[in-house]
Amino acid sequence: MTENASKFDASALLSSRANAADEGAIIRLSQRTREMRTKGHDVVSLSLGEPDFDTPENIRDAAKQAMDKGLTHYAPVAGIPELREALAEKLRVENKLDYKPANIVLANGTKQAINNALLALIEPGDEAIIMAPYWVAYEASMKFAGGKCVFVTASVAENYKPPIERIAAAITPATKLIFLNSPSNPTGAVWTRKELEALAELVRKHPKLMVLSDEIYEYILFEGENVSFGSLPGMLERTITLNGFSKGFAMTGWRLGYAAAPLPVAVAMGRMQSIVSAGANSFVQHAAVAALKGHRDDVEMMRKAYQKRRDMVLAGLKAIPGVTIGPIPGTFYAFPDVSSFLGKKAGNHVIDTTDQLCDWLLEEQGVTVVPGTAFGSPASIRLSFAASEADIEKALERLKKGLLALS
Ligand SMILES: Cc1ncc(COP(=O)(O)O)c(C=O)c1O
Repeated sequence: MTENASKFDASALLSSRANAADEGAIIRLSQRTREMRTKGHDVVSLSLGEPDFDTPENIRDAAKQAMDKGLTHYAPVAGIPELREALAEKLRVENKLDYKPANIVLANGTKQAINNALLALIEPGDEAIIMAPYWVAYEASMKFAGGKCVFVTASVAENYKPPIERIAAAITPATKLIFLNSPSNPTGAVWTRKELEALAELVRKHPKLMVLSDEIYEYILFEGENVSFGSLPGMLERTITLNGFSKGFAMTGWRLGYAAAPLPVAVAMGRMQSIVSAGANSFVQHAAVAALKGHRDDVEMMRKAYQKRRDMVLAGLKAIPGVTIGPIPGTFYAFPDVSSFLGKKAGNHVIDTTDQLCDWLLEEQGVTVVPGTAFGSPASIRLSFAASEADIEKALERLKKGLLALS
């Protein structure tokens, strides 16, 4: 390097967008977990938001066959026709949503589908209501699109679902979207038909409002029913339905998600995606057709395994005095309120926040869980039970020992 080049500081060139994007607590804790394991520490992690199962064999086979047939070229931006048709059929039969293939836009992951929707709809100053606790990417993507997040918080005692009046009170003339995520990451909450009908009633009163309904955990349901928001009377035109293959089919690394939306929004989302990337991975899309049309034995096997682990986690958390946890009807997350432990001492230092609590649990007790601050809810921590039963048992023991050691 020349002398001039060595004085060059590329960080000074970074955009405010890049500087504002925080890597987040989950990535920080995962890195620290890896570092500690490399140094020989025994750490059990319940921090990951992804299935610990491999992708089912029939889906892997379909991807291999697609590659062998030469289906490795650019796909159309909105997705291959076979998959858009299969998804229209799935949404009609399983979700009572009457979308045409033209309403459906495939993306490189549901995350990208969310960003496509926000880039297509959000002007600077536009507001979106995000119900807290929320999946952290909603906030990040809204900021990235230049919009403003308005948070409406619900507590564990409310099963993390805010009453409709609280949502209504947050609506302003600038509100364009409401984020809805049922079943929910990080809480495992599922909205009932009655609750969704009340939300639909509210949406009817506001003619410029749309709902972004993220249904990615629909197949990981233990109790109750999944009701797609767009299936309620008059709501199809007011909804962007988001879903993907990562969770239910254990396909996180394949990067395939989709949005279904009123035609003008779907077309605009395709345009956004054509700027940022292009059509989603072609042979993955062919594998996704097989996932939708093939047997669902593995999906059901995984659901049952999560349900058994959910029961273990609920029992383990309820056995810790001071921890508050409600029902977990879906997903592979538990989000207990641990605020009764804040302000207590570990040795001679006080633990005031769930961030400090999670750092201490990792460093001193060898268990990784994620602070609720990452999800807009500082009173709680998130445990993922997409982990083996042995790991869950060990983690619960460590958590209990750690929390009860605080005084
Ligand atoms: C609520 C929710 N929506 C969307 C996603 C993103 O999924 P994908 O892997 O399809 O981008 C996640 C992943 O953690 C999630 O928890």
